[in-house]
Amino acid sequence: MATVTLDDLHKSYGKTAVIHGVDIDIADGEFIVIVGPSGCGKSTLLRMVAGLEGVTSGEVRIAGQRVNEKEPMDRDIAMVFQNYALYPHMSVRQNMGYGLKIAGTPKAEIEARVAEAARLLQLEPYLDRRPRELSGGQRQRVAMGRAIVRRPAVFLFDEPLSNLDAKLRVQMRLEIKQLQRDLGVTSLYVTHDQVEAMTLADRMIVMNAGVADQIGAPLEVYADPETAFVAGFIGSPPTNFLTPAAMGVAAPEGVQLGIRPEHLSLTPAGGAQATGRVLNAEPLGAETLVHLKMADGTLTTVRQDGTAPIPAEGDTVGLAWDAGVQMLFDADGRRIRD
Ligand SMILES: Nc1ncnc2c1ncn2[C@@H]1O[C@H](COP(=O)(O)OP(=O)(O)OP(=O)(O)O)[C@@H](O)[C@H]1O
Ligand SMILES: [Mg+2]
Repeated sequence: MATVTLDDLHKSYGKTAVIHGVDIDIADGEFIVIVGPSGCGKSTLLRMVAGLEGVTSGEVRIAGQRVNEKEPMDRDIAMVFQNYALYPHMSVRQNMGYGLKIAGTPKAEIEARVAEAARLLQLEPYLDRRPRELSGGQRQRVAMGRAIVRRPAVFLFDEPLSNLDAKLRVQMRLEIKQLQRDLGVTSLYVTHDQVEAMTLADRMIVMNAGVADQIGAPLEVYADPETAFVAGFIGSPPTNFLTPAAMGVAAPEGVQLGIRPEHLSLTPAGGAQATGRVLNAEPLGAETLVHLKMADGTLTTVRQDGTAPIPAEGDTVGLAWDAGVQMLFDADGRRIRD
C-alpha cells in the first residue's frame, strides 16, 4: 500500500498539450475516481501513473519515490482495463496465476494467492473453467483477480465496467467498492460515468479538457462546484443554466446563473419572480421532471416529488427557489463567490 502524488503533471503529444498540469496528493488506501467526458485526458493521466505513457513534465511519486523513469513492472501497480483480455485457452486458475508465474513466483505461493483471490471474488466454483464458459461479470472478476494476486501497492482501473450491461455494472460497482475497502489498496479509477464516480470515490478529479477543474469528495463537488463545467457534468439531470435577467436576478452582463433541478419548485404564475411555459413532464415514479421554456427561450428542468401535481403541457407556471442555492459563473465559467 502506498501514497501517490501527481506533481504538476503535463503531457503533450508533439505540439498538442493534452494534460495541462494536474496536482494531487493521494492518501494511502484512498479511492480516487478520475471522471470527465470522452477525450478529456483520463486514460492519459492514468497511463502516466502506470508508466505506459511518458511524462512530458512534472513528477509521479509512488510511496514518496519518483517513478517517472521506472518501467510499469517496477512500479508496484496492477491495472484492470475495459477490455479485460483473458487468455482464452487458459483456465480461470491459470489466467489469475499467469503474471506470478512469469515473475518466477514459487508454485505453492501462486496457488495460495490464487485461492485467496478466488475466495474474495467468489470465483472458487469456476477455477477450472475457460473464460468463454463464464458470464461477463465473472470474467470481469477474473480480471480483478489477476490484479489482486499481484498484491500491488496501487490499483489502476480504466473503465473496467463499461463492457457490462447496466444491471451488472451496478452490482460490480458495489463489489469493487467493497473489495477496495477490504484490501485497503490505494486506487485510481477512470470512468466517464458520473454516477459511478459519485458512488465509488473517496475523492474525485473532475477533468475538463486536460485540466482538473475540481478535486474533492463527491458530495462536496456536487454541492459546491467550482466551475460551470463541473456543475453541468456532475448531477443528473444536470444543473440548469439560466440568464439572470429571465430569472429576475441582479448580475453583471455575461454572468450565467446555475440552479439544480431539485432546487426549483413550481408555483402559480401570478406574482412569481420568474415564469416559464411547460413543454412536457416526465413522471418517473418517485420523481417527476418538468421541462420548461423560459421567456427568453432558455430550457429549464424542475425536479419535483412524484406525488406533486403535474402541470399540463402549455401551462404557464411560476418558479420559486431559495437565493442560497443560486450559483453564478463568470464568462469563463469560473464560479463567482460573494
Ligand atoms: N498517441 C496520441 N497522440 C496524439 N494524441 C493523443 C494520443 N493519445 C491520446 N491523444 C489525445 O489526448 C486526448 C486525451 O485522450 P485520452 O485517451 O486520455 O482521453 P479519455 O478521457 O480517456 O477519453 P475516453 O473517455 O474516450 O477514453 C484526446 O484528445 C486524444 O485524442
Ligand atoms: Mg479513456
